[in-house]
Amino acid sequence: MKTIPVAQLQSFVAEIFTKAGCSAAEGKRIAHYLTQANLVGHDSHGVIRVPRYVEALKAGTVLADQTIDKVIDTPVLAVVDGKYGFGQTVTPQAVQLGIDKAKQSGVAVIALRHSGHLGRAGDWAEMAAAAGLISIHFVNVAGSLLVAPFGGVERRISTAPFCVGVPMPNGQQALILDFATALVAEGKVLVASNGGKKVPDNAMIELDGRMSGDPTTLYGPIAGTSARLPQNGKGAIRTFGEHKGSGLAFMCEILGGALTGGGTCGPGPRQLANGMLSIYMSPDFFGSDHAYAEEARNYIEFFKSAKPATPGGEVLIPGETEARNRADRTKNGVPLQDDTWAAIQAAAKSVGAEITTTQI
Ligand SMILES: NC(=O)c1ccc[n+]([C@@H]2O[C@H](COP(=O)([O-])OP(=O)(O)OC[C@H]3O[C@@H](n4cnc5c(N)ncnc54)[C@H](O)[C@@H]3O)[C@@H](O)[C@H]2O)c1
Repeated sequence: MKTIPVAQLQSFVAEIFTKAGCSAAEGKRIAHYLTQANLVGHDSHGVIRVPRYVEALKAGTVLADQTIDKVIDTPVLAVVDGKYGFGQTVTPQAVQLGIDKAKQSGVAVIALRHSGHLGRAGDWAEMAAAAGLISIHFVNVAGSLLVAPFGGVERRISTAPFCVGVPMPNGQQALILDFATALVAEGKVLVASNGGKKVPDNAMIELDGRMSGDPTTLYGPIAGTSARLPQNGKGAIRTFGEHKGSGLAFMCEILGGALTGGGTCGPGPRQLANGMLSIYMSPDFFGSDHAYAEEARNYIEFFKSAKPATPGGEVLIPGETEARNRADRTKNGVPLQDDTWAAIQAAAKSVGAEITTTQI
C-alpha cells in the first residue's frame, strides 16, 4: 500500500494524459476528477482508471479535447453529443448548459449521448449544486453488459448510476445521493481484484444461480496486473434492492440510453460510452424564498436522530461519507494498492511520462 498526497498524484496523472495526447488543460481536468473520486473514497472511479483510459485513447475509442455538438437546443431542453470525448471534458460542458438554461427558465433537461467514461456521477450533481441548482441524473453505459436483472442470471444491464443533488444555502454541504444500481460498481470489483476492499458475498451471481463475492466471477482467472476484462468472466453483478433496484436500472437504460440517443447497454456490440439524462431545477423559482432549506435542515436532524441499529452505529445522510473521506484524504493522502500503483506506472511508462521527485 502506498499513500500519496493528492496534489502530487494529480500532477503525475495530468502529465500521463498530456504525454498521451491530451491538451495540458484536459490532462489537468482528467487528473482533477479522477483524484476527486479517490478523495471522496470512491477508489473505483479514481486513478485506478488511468491504464484503461490510456488504452482507450491509444485505441481511438475515446478522443482527446472534444467539444459537445448541440443536436437539439431549445430554451429548456438540449440533446448534446459528446462525440466519444473524455467524460471529464464533455460532461461538464453538458452540465454547464443545463445550469445556464435552468437559471434562465427554472428547469432544464439535458440529454447527453456518446460521452467517454464520465466517472463519478456525483461530480456533476456537485457542479450543479455549486451553481445553486437541484439536479437528477439517470446514467447508463452503452456497450457495457455487466449486471443481471432481478430474477435472471445473464447480463442485461450496465452498472447504470442514479444521482440526485440538492444545494443547501449558507455554505452547508450539498445533499448528494449517488450510486450504481448494480449492487457494487464494476470498479469496486476491480479494486477487490487488486487486493483492495472485498465486495459482499452476494454482489455477483454465477450462471448456475450461486451467489459470489469472488472477482473471477466477473473477470475469469486473474494474474498479477493483467488487464481485468469483464468479457472473460461468465457471471454477472447483481442489482441492489432486488426488483426495485433492477427497475431503477432499467429506467436508467431507457432514459440515459434510449432517450438520449446514446443507446442502451445491448444487445450486440456497441461502442462503450456513457449516456446521461439530467434534469436541473432552480430553487429560486419555487417561490418560498428557500424555505425548503430550513425544512430540510430540520428533517436531517430528525433523520439522523434515529436510534442506531448497532451499538456505536450512526445514521448518515446522502453525501456524508464522501464529505468525511474528502476531509481525511485531503489531509492524509490517497491510499493506493500496490497493484493499482504498478499498473498506473506501467501506463505512464507506455506514454513516456516520468515520475519526478517533485511529484511522488
Ligand atoms: N460512469 C459510470 O458509468 C458509472 C457506473 C457505475 C457507477 N459509477 C459511480 O460509481 C460510484 C460508486 O457507486 P457505488 O454504488 O459503489 O456507491 P456506494 O454503494 O458507496 O453508495 C454511495 C451512496 O450511498 C451513500 N452512503 C454510503 N454509505 C452510507 C451509509 N452508511 N449510510 C447512508 N448512506 C450512505 C453515499 O453518500 C452515496 O450517496 C458513484 O459515484 C457512481 O456514480 C459510475
